[in-house]
Amino acid sequence: MSIIEAQGLHKAFDDGTVAVDRVDFEVAEGEVFGFLGRNGAGKTTTVRILATLTRATSGSARVLGLDVVKHRAQVRDRIGLSLQQAALDPLMSGREHLHLVATLRRMRPARRTERIEELLTGFGLTEVADRLVATYTVGMRRRLDAALALIHGPELLFLDEPTTGLDPQSRRALWDFVRTYRRGGGTVFLTTQYLDEADELCDRIAILDKGTLSVIDTPQELKKGIGGKVLTLPATPEAQELAVSAVGPAACRQTGDLLRIDLPADEDVLPSLFRKLHERGVPLSGVTVTDPTIEEVFIRLTGEGLERRTANDGSVAAAALARTVGTGRGGI
Ligand SMILES: Nc1ncnc2c1ncn2[C@@H]1O[C@H](COP(=O)(O)OP(=O)(O)O)[C@@H](O)[C@H]1O
Ligand SMILES: [Mg+2]
Repeated sequence: MSIIEAQGLHKAFDDGTVAVDRVDFEVAEGEVFGFLGRNGAGKTTTVRILATLTRATSGSARVLGLDVVKHRAQVRDRIGLSLQQAALDPLMSGREHLHLVATLRRMRPARRTERIEELLTGFGLTEVADRLVATYTVGMRRRLDAALALIHGPELLFLDEPTTGLDPQSRRALWDFVRTYRRGGGTVFLTTQYLDEADELCDRIAILDKGTLSVIDTPQELKKGIGGKVLTLPATPEAQELAVSAVGPAACRQTGDLLRIDLPADEDVLPSLFRKLHERGVPLSGVTVTDPTIEEVFIRLTGEGLERRTANDGSVAAAALARTVGTGRGGI
């Protein structure tokens, strides 16, 4: 069954910006569906439409079989949402946030206390539960926000760039959490600008570029579509000329100061190309040959790469996140 169905989804803002441009996709029950795109691609706008926070200009979307415009309240009751910009109050503690949201979600008091303890433990927040959010690291805030999204045991979870700005350890912990949630039967719609994240975590990836979906497939199929390995080398005029003569212009792309060459599956061209590069004085130390990655797929589809990750929260030890947090299917 499709948990999300978007048809011709289109969002133009009043200033004329088209954030989402007639997008069609379906998300199946139990999958981690990745929406991959650079800043400004339209990821958050799509999430906001599906989570009923904003209306599409045209097109339609059904979430859990419910129309997001006609059945806003029912949709909201059954989804969890963790937005890129978490709306946390710095002057409340983590526990107070959980209490507030549990109350707003109309949870029974007995179940509320139990669930809050479960989530604090699961997200490794027990020790800081009574500290003001103002004192939390980026990673702790992100985990609290995910806990808030899960409090009512939603069967579908929207995570909008959940790992942007996280240190590698917190990021891994968040991935573990997503996997645990999925194993418990939950479905995840996740946006990311990180190619490795999409590759590792997602069952299927949709690549969004300037509001348009260029492709939807499993990471394996996307990479398979690339064919042979990829050679990268410094983009000097000599390298360019030799590469084009060896594999033809269609297989050569320049991104930044690197030249990327799609090698034919048999790779016969490699020895002679290396020899010629060497003869022309191109330093081979800067040459790499790799299996195709989602990055290659992304570059090929959108013409350029994604910026590299910056980690700025080195203080979080979030291993506990991996435990917990079942979907609460029938739980609450
Ligand atoms: N309220 C708004 N008014 C006008 N333009 C907006 C608004 N919100 C987002 N945009 C524009 O829509 C595009 C998509 O934004 P967004 O969905 O936030 O992208 P992403 O989450 O992929 O970074 C961007 O060009 C952004 O500047
Ligand atoms: Mg965004």
